Amino acid sequence: MARPTVPRSTRGSTHRPPLAHTQGMSTQALRWIDPPAGPAVVLLDQTRLPAEETYLTCTDVATLDDAIRRLAVRGAPLLGLAGAFGVALAAHRDEDVAAAAATLTRSRPTAVNLGWGAARALAACRRAQQHAATPVDAQRLAARAALAEARAIAADDAEASAAIAAHGLTLVPRAARILTHCNTGALVSAGEGTAFAIILAAHRAGRLAQLWVDETRPLLQGARLTAYEAGRAGLPYAVLPDAAAASLLAAGQVDLVLTGADRVAADGSVANKVGTYGLAVLARHHQVPFVVAAPLSSIDFAAGDGAAIVVEHRPAAEVTSFAGFPVAPAGSDAYNPAFDVTPAALVSVLVTERGLARPVNAGTLHLLGTPRAAGVAAPAIVSMER
Ligand code: MRU
Repeated sequence: MARPTVPRSTRGSTHRPPLAHTQGMSTQALRWIDPPAGPAVVLLDQTRLPAEETYLTCTDVATLDDAIRRLAVRGAPLLGLAGAFGVALAAHRDEDVAAAAATLTRSRPTAVNLGWGAARALAACRRAQQHAATPVDAQRLAARAALAEARAIAADDAEASAAIAAHGLTLVPRAARILTHCNTGALVSAGEGTAFAIILAAHRAGRLAQLWVDETRPLLQGARLTAYEAGRAGLPYAVLPDAAAASLLAAGQVDLVLTGADRVAADGSVANKVGTYGLAVLARHHQVPFVVAAPLSSIDFAAGDGAAIVVEHRPAAEVTSFAGFPVAPAGSDAYNPAFDVTPAALVSVLVTERGLARPVNAGTLHLLGTPRAAGVAAPAIVSMER
């Protein structure tokens, strides 16, 4: 069957020449301020982008918790940082760090990094307190340890992002037309992100012909945030309604579908922004690789399969309104899961900082996630063909 073609005008939104070099990103999505100006966690308010680059200063855990719930700070790796720096904030304020970790972990249940980051900072507090001679000493040591742990998580995330980009680049063909969903760049990472880091690497390598950006209903993380990052980096991109992805794939205009993940179960099932599962089904139907990029910190080996992942459901108003204006009749109910779960069988490759899992299953994930023996520095790349 002949594939319908995409009219040239559809590609008119490619506002910069492809294959150009990327400009640097200066935005810092999350930063810590030490006393005496702090302690505080400063967030680039992602609910206001791209119209305004405004910052939210969280001087207590309640403000940070609210920012997480409202998606002022969002995306799996950055939520890991938010969890860890949030516990550091509580420790600096001499508050109950276990309660802070529990509060932050509850804010958004699907992104595994949030609870993971909070738990790591909490464990660092506990370890440090064991060496304290007095309660004052305990507080001081806990605050210092939690902050050091949060900073270590940030450094690891930046390193993981670079490694994911390098591994992922090996999957990108020449003159690639890549379709992505949601937002996975520097706005969600201490580095250049996950899927978006690969896209940037492809651009720098002269391999990106076109980035297709799903708008990502209902909160438009694609249209607002990925387009903002793509524009700043000089990528050739176009935004499309999520519902147009099917005909775009049918038209043969996509070489690779590339997304991030909020939680990967031990069997390789992937929870990511709602709409991802549909893209994976479409990619399989049209025989286009469906690739997921995520740091190992997003793999939840305690969740055996996709059914074990709790999917966050969000308020109806996000669906029944648009940009704050009601569009559905007052009182309309809504179905608003923030995420969906894609079975591992639909994921062609999982890209992590340690290498590629291909095929994606419990065996390859286990190999990737197994800590290496001391002294073994080289990354263990698992790459098995189907
Ligand atoms: O609800 P959000 O905006 O936090 O959802 C984010 C996503 O689904 C991202 O794709 C995911 O966290 C990966 S970020 C590297």
